Amino acid sequence: MPVLPIARMGNPVLRKIAEPIADPTDPAVARLAADMIATMLDAPGVGLAAPQIAESRRIIVFRIPADRGEGEEVANTVLVNPVIEPLTDDMVMGWEGCLSIPGLRGLVPRYARIRYRGYGLDGARIDREASGFHARVVQHEVDHLDGVLYLDRMDDLRLLVCTEEMHHLNAALAAATHITAAPGAATDAPTPA
Ligand code: NI
Repeated sequence: MPVLPIARMGNPVLRKIAEPIADPTDPAVARLAADMIATMLDAPGVGLAAPQIAESRRIIVFRIPADRGEGEEVANTVLVNPVIEPLTDDMVMGWEGCLSIPGLRGLVPRYARIRYRGYGLDGARIDREASGFHARVVQHEVDHLDGVLYLDRMDDLRLLVCTEEMHHLNAALAAATHITAAPGAATDAPTPA
């Protein structure tokens, strides 16, 4: 389970539409997933999509630590050919980072609640509903499969900052009324995905 190099923004692989995986139970897919989890944990990150390790295929891995999931903890999860369906029109702002865009954090609008579907490595269907940080991470990772980076989702690049300067923007946000960051999300540097 080697830790693989992570493609950074500017690498064309991050802008391609990734290919569907024909057979989630193919042992080669299991090896790819194991490498992705090892790379995610080493970074460390909370999520990784295959294009980030230069594999243009539709598979993501993620984990939701207990202290970020608003009480909900999700163990390392592999999702093959994931599809997202928004369950609300409500968008919430929250901090995101990306292992392919080191040193930056941005406030990104995401659907507050989603349903996501896909397949596990055993070929069984996965069908879950998610909200909060869990929903945010899945939306971020599935975007990677369509060549989309979180910067593309931002509507105000003044909310993009260097990680070590985040505290300045947090202070400004505390005084602002037009931005509602998810509770807790604007108070620390999130683990990138
Ligand atoms: Ni990312």
